[in-house]
Amino acid sequence: MSEIEPNIPANLKHIAIIMDGNGRWAQKRGKKRVMGHKAGMERAREMAEYCGEQGISVLTLFAFSSENWKRPQDEVSFLMDLFATSLKNESKKLHKNNVKLVVIGDKAGFDKRLQKAIDNAEELTKDNHGLLLQIAANYGGHWDITQAANQCLMDGIGKITEDDISKRLVTADVTDVDLMIRTGGEQRISNFLLWQTAYSELYFSDALWPDFDSKELEVAISDFAKRQRRFGQTGEQIG
Ligand code: FPP
Repeated sequence: MSEIEPNIPANLKHIAIIMDGNGRWAQKRGKKRVMGHKAGMERAREMAEYCGEQGISVLTLFAFSSENWKRPQDEVSFLMDLFATSLKNESKKLHKNNVKLVVIGDKAGFDKRLQKAIDNAEELTKDNHGLLLQIAANYGGHWDITQAANQCLMDGIGKITEDDISKRLVTADVTDVDLMIRTGGEQRISNFLLWQTAYSELYFSDALWPDFDSKELEVAISDFAKRQRRFGQTGEQIG
């Protein structure tokens, strides 16, 4: 539990995070890159606990992009094993904490063992009503919009509306992202939730992901609280 009681703004429902900098964190310590992912997993767990405790509705973590398959084979294998093991080890605790876990992405791309671990964790937590924890894995924003458009075709829709697409994204019933955070010093979106971040506030941190603790998240939330979100209107209209 955090010592400082943060003020969570009422308009902050959904936080999405690009957890970047694991490899550099490890290399700076003379360790193999994958050790950064292991440390990054600890931070992911901490963020989920923090968001659950603070009453955030949705936390979406970018764990593995559609493009990450291009990484060295041993790093990809390590990430898949870490993902499967963590799902197995963490799902009971998530369930106890009333967290609903959902994996968003093209799950068909994973091996059967990982697909089974995902199914089990999703099934166990499906009726929970606390934090919705979305793990984006084998996810890409282009893929998501394209699969939604293809579903529209299959549903026989002649002229597609924005609502038709929204309803068929993997995040269908989930409120759009309010605050998008990227750690690791880069300032780009990297094909994350492209549709769902149309009006998100963006926050970039130089901290490498394994160093991004709940204090750093509180700084990001305080920064968000100062922003005026206009959604296309003027400042005067917002008041
Ligand atoms: C980007 O850092 C990080 C990833 C591609 C993997 C993220 C995975 C974790 C944090 C583990 C947690 C996983 C779950 C399922 C919650 P990078 O390797 O690109 O870092 P670099 O830019 O320093 O090389």
